[in-house]
Amino acid sequence: MTRPGADQPTFYDLVGGEPTFRKLVARFYEGLADDPLLRPLYPEEDLGPAEERLRLFLMQYWGGPNTYSASRGHPRLRMRHAPFRVGPAERDAWLRHMRDAVDSLDLPADQHQTLWEYLERAAYFMVNTMDDAGTNPT
Ligand code: HEM
Repeated sequence: MTRPGADQPTFYDLVGGEPTFRKLVARFYEGLADDPLLRPLYPEEDLGPAEERLRLFLMQYWGGPNTYSASRGHPRLRMRHAPFRVGPAERDAWLRHMRDAVDSLDLPADQHQTLWEYLERAAYFMVNTMDDAGTNPT
């Protein structure tokens, strides 16, 4: 029996739940750890906590548990990125690592497309400077 609007699997469920997001974000941070443009943006030496924040955000966004907001409050992602220089070069580097991570999941084509289109749109939305110097003040 299905009740309308209830018990419908979310996109989070469909792609495999937490293990899928764990894999996605772990792979993304592997790439980021060696990225000369992006790595200096991350204030903490240990990338583990940042990895967890991104994983919990994405899980929540796609219909998983609301753990992100329970600990961090409303995402307000553009505001949270304001302290960091996100120009076209940073956006493209971020998307390159994310593309590699999404590809590594081997999702069915429709799920792959849904996830990728969202991430690409979100990355364009996060840009806060059009200055393409590609360097951050040290
Ligand atoms: C476009 C290029 C992007 C760059 C260069 C970038 C960079 C950063 C940096 C430096 C941080 C701080 C690390 C931390 O302590 O958490 C951060 C946090 C975060 N980013 Fe991004 N980001 C980008 C795009 C995105 C996108 C597209 C999303 C979502 C789809 C996202 C989601 C997050 C989340 C959830 C956090 C943690 C926010 C918090 O709770 O404090 N970022 N990002």
